[in-house]
Amino acid sequence: MSNDFRLGGDLPIGRLGFGAMRLPTNSFHGPARDPETGRAVLRRAVELGIDHIDTAAFYTSDDGSVRANDLIREALHPYPDGLVIATKVGPLRTPDGGLEATTDPGALRALVEENLAGLGVDRLDLVYLRIGGIEPPPHGESVAARFEALAALREEGLIRHLGLSHVDAGHLAEARAIAPVAAVQNHFHPDRRDDTEVLARCEEAGIAYVPYFPLGGGLADIGGGRVAEVADRHGATVPQIALARLLASSPVTLAIPGTGSVAHLEENTAAGSIVLTAEDLADLR
Ligand SMILES: NC(=O)c1ccc[n+]([C@@H]2O[C@H](COP(=O)([O-])OP(=O)(O)OC[C@H]3O[C@@H](n4cnc5c(N)ncnc54)[C@H](OP(=O)(O)O)[C@@H]3O)[C@@H](O)[C@H]2O)c1
Repeated sequence: MSNDFRLGGDLPIGRLGFGAMRLPTNSFHGPARDPETGRAVLRRAVELGIDHIDTAAFYTSDDGSVRANDLIREALHPYPDGLVIATKVGPLRTPDGGLEATTDPGALRALVEENLAGLGVDRLDLVYLRIGGIEPPPHGESVAARFEALAALREEGLIRHLGLSHVDAGHLAEARAIAPVAAVQNHFHPDRRDDTEVLARCEEAGIAYVPYFPLGGGLADIGGGRVAEVADRHGATVPQIALARLLASSPVTLAIPGTGSVAHLEENTAAGSIVLTAEDLADLR
């Protein structure tokens, strides 16, 4: 896969990566998936040339028996040269298996250290500060104190690049006044394309824009009939065209489709070689 994006200006990665959230369980929380299959998916991803894996220490099965970071370490450590592993901090697991966002800057060091240990590295390539819950980004909430705390850990050498997740353009501007932002991870896919201001700021600054739920979180009819029509034209599948469209939508967009299936991984990765025509893109608009 061609390394056609420079994360933070210095880490070359392919624009089609992999999201690890679906390895331990097929949602934010739920029953454990088979860990051996998870490790097989990760090994196959690297074989296929994927060099950007998105994870988090809070990606676990409800019983805590299967954890994305453990699977990544077990399957891939020592990591191949050039593999970039991005993680995120902010959400904390609640006793009932849910997630709750921390607003305490003092809590972030332990979360970064949890990722260093879980992944078995001395420095994390990319750490997103993930704010808010599942509802729209908390407009007006300051990210300054938490981003300063992460910037200090970066100065200490524990983190290479910083990112932001689930943010608006105000949060991005506030953070960029503190330290460089290499990537933004927001909710964006063919049925959810209203994040235009943040995407525009990312394009201006060469910041990676990394949609989460690139397949709509698993929507069978993502993009409705438009995506299915273009898929038919290419002899491709709906998820493949959804991913190809994301990659065509901006030079700073990176795709991180999530799956716990080797077959789906192979299908999704093949989307990287689909070239959409001007007619396709017009039909998908
Ligand atoms: N920052 C955030 O707040 C946030 C939130 C959510 C996710 N993320 C990150 O973004 C990544 C991507 O999001 P996501 O995994 O939640 O959602 P997604 O990539 O939009 O969709 C994943 C879902 O689609 C299914 N799927 C994947 N490929 C498929 C295919 N070719 N055909 C049919 N079904 C397919 C998966 O099931 P199978 O496993 O059975 O294939 C899974 O249920 C995550 O893995 C995670 O790293 C970040």
